[in-house]
Amino acid sequence: MSIDFKKAAEEFSTPLYIYDFKYMRSQYRALKEAFEGKKSLITYAVKANSNLSVIANFAKESSGADCVSIGEVKRALLAGIEPYKIIFSGVGKSYDEIKEALELKILMINTESEAELHLVEEVSKEIGIEARVSVRVNPNVDPKTHPYISTGLHENKFGVDIDMAKRMYIYSKNSDYLDPIGIHFHIGSQLTNLEPIAEAAQIIADLVRSLKAIDIDIKFFDFGGGLGIKYSDEILIDPKDYAEAIISATKGLDVTLVCEPGRYMSANGGYLVTKVLYEKINGSKRFTIVDAAMNDLLRPSLYNAYHKIESVERKDGKESPTDIVGPICESGDFLAKDTLMPPLEGGDLLVVNSAGAYGFTMASNYNTRGKACEVAYDNGEFRVIRRRESFEDLIEQERLYLKD
Ligand code: LLP
Repeated sequence: MSIDFKKAAEEFSTPLYIYDFKYMRSQYRALKEAFEGKKSLITYAVKANSNLSVIANFAKESSGADCVSIGEVKRALLAGIEPYKIIFSGVGKSYDEIKEALELKILMINTESEAELHLVEEVSKEIGIEARVSVRVNPNVDPKTHPYISTGLHENKFGVDIDMAKRMYIYSKNSDYLDPIGIHFHIGSQLTNLEPIAEAAQIIADLVRSLKAIDIDIKFFDFGGGLGIKYSDEILIDPKDYAEAIISATKGLDVTLVCEPGRYMSANGGYLVTKVLYEKINGSKRFTIVDAAMNDLLRPSLYNAYHKIESVERKDGKESPTDIVGPICESGDFLAKDTLMPPLEGGDLLVVNSAGAYGFTMASNYNTRGKACEVAYDNGEFRVIRRRESFEDLIEQERLYLKD
């Protein structure tokens, strides 16, 4: 690994997120290339890592953005993504968010229920701006991933079924305020199996064909994100096979293929550097207590997710299993369980891998812990892209109310 984690930790202290910008650009390029020869748009899923500089790094590559709140839309714009490459998704967009999105003239609003479509129409009528919309269709396909990150089954809250989608398209076509230009599905995240995506793409492409037959011309075929990455020994979907499955499903349709990857673009370009505070043995159980915690990286606690952790100095000595835990007052506060580590002591550095997606964006201030510093690594240099939060930052919004 070419990144000097020790130097970074000395300069910026820990816990510290480091993002390899070159790696992230190369992920964007690999995916874009897989669709070569086809009209395609990669809209980076901002939720994976929404640091302005990370988004800007993708914007420079001509990426679009997939956003799930007006905050994310505004981040994307601020980072330099063109409005006509921004998609606004999510099951619960509010009146104000819809209004602002229309005023900002983004590519399209992805509606997820009939009620939401009606609200988009109402807002559009009020402000006199026609709304470009898509419908998120739930194809009821099992993505075979962790249940918390599966999104394309009827038991999940996302999208609408095919019949409802048809009704929504017909309604939009007949409205003076709605322009149905897109279709969308997303069956889940961290997908390592191509078949469910191919099956869902076939179902949705057939729907596009049946809409065409009634004069509804879909121009954007958005098949979500979901490409899995290597946390340990997963066998991955080759982006070329992924693209091929979509291209073959949409054969004969004149559509722009829209892909909205998050994890694939940023996860393995991110590292969380943490310092060992103490080691201890309770009975026969070894614990390594570090200065990063579940408030910095929630994935292990929330999904029991595995993140490979390595000792930066690669210390000698016999490895033995240890739980790597943070200082938070919860038994569920761990970064790894029973992972093999050499003997460690206070001051040693550990690096948590695959932390560039759903890491910092899911961080919190639980236990009044300030959020970590974020640093970009590019051309052999480190740049702070978000400074460490101070105690003053944490209490800034609060007012001390004392009854006399
Ligand atoms: N588009 C839509 C509509 C989505 O719901 C998602 C993710 C994405 C794109 C990006 O998916 P990706 O390419 O990253 O798989 N916090 C969880 C992941 C939740 C993902 C939810 N939706 C985790 O840490 O694993």
